[in-house]
Amino acid sequence: MGEGLKPPVITVEGLTKHFGGVYALKDVSFTLHEGDILGIIGPNGSGKTTLINCVTGFLKPDAGTVRFRDRDITGLAPHKIARLGVTRTFQVMRPYYSLPAYKNLIIPLWSPRVRKLGGWRGGGRHGDRDTVAVDILEEIGFERDSYVPYKMASSLPTGYLKRLELARCIALRPEVVICDEVFSGLSMSEIATMVPLIEKLQMEGMTLIMVEHRLRELFRVANRVMVLSYGDKIMEGDPEVVIEDERVKEVYLGWEGEAEDD
Ligand SMILES: Nc1ncnc2c1ncn2[C@@H]1O[C@H](COP(=O)(O)OP(=O)(O)O)[C@@H](O)[C@H]1O
Ligand SMILES: [Mg+2]
Repeated sequence: MGEGLKPPVITVEGLTKHFGGVYALKDVSFTLHEGDILGIIGPNGSGKTTLINCVTGFLKPDAGTVRFRDRDITGLAPHKIARLGVTRTFQVMRPYYSLPAYKNLIIPLWSPRVRKLGGWRGGGRHGDRDTVAVDILEEIGFERDSYVPYKMASSLPTGYLKRLELARCIALRPEVVICDEVFSGLSMSEIATMVPLIEKLQMEGMTLIMVEHRLRELFRVANRVMVLSYGDKIMEGDPEVVIEDERVKEVYLGWEGEAEDD
């Protein structure tokens, strides 16, 4: 489908945020189109997480606007933005460690958004809430036969906690999922199993933003890529164009070096 045919889902204009004298974001604008996976890359400290925080209501921008479809959502509270269907993962995972993994999904499955959409059994799911939670975890790679969904979140290794973050988002039946470095801290083989999950979400009709440090894997799934550097958007384009850009190549080698140390 041509770019012009896909309606905009998130439109960001002139987003600016500073912390004291440090500009974490300077006049950043972009459009996320329906069904796309927009990759956002940039070295540590380039403003990627700040951008997610401003779009999802966790931070109020100093200037600029965020629109979700026709609605101005700038500065709305995070739970209100989530209720509209825009959800995000956290770079530093925040599960309820003292609960079994599947119980972590009870809150989104009980949320006003899911109730409005017909309850946790909507979207082709069946059974009681716990069953639906375990089903979602199984879809995202928690082996039911080994009882992984029933393990305490505190006992799960990083790979599963990253999946749990994503499952929490999916349970909300979102339109937009914003992932903050879901590949970081994972082994190559763990990433290889995450990539098809991301592609499946896209096929199911979700629109995604993926903030990533892992460039090779990101460029495999993203339709568009935007590059941040010290809070500035330095370029945006098709992945094959971005990866060939001299400015990006220059720092790209450096980032790959950093990423290998993860
Ligand atoms: N809550 C905060 N208070 C002060 N400075 C912050 C805060 N969050 C981010 N920053 C600063 O803003 C810049 C961008 O950070 P961040 O958005 O986390 O970058 P990235 O996610 O690309 O690594 C960095 O210089 C960081 O130190
Ligand atoms: Mg970050």
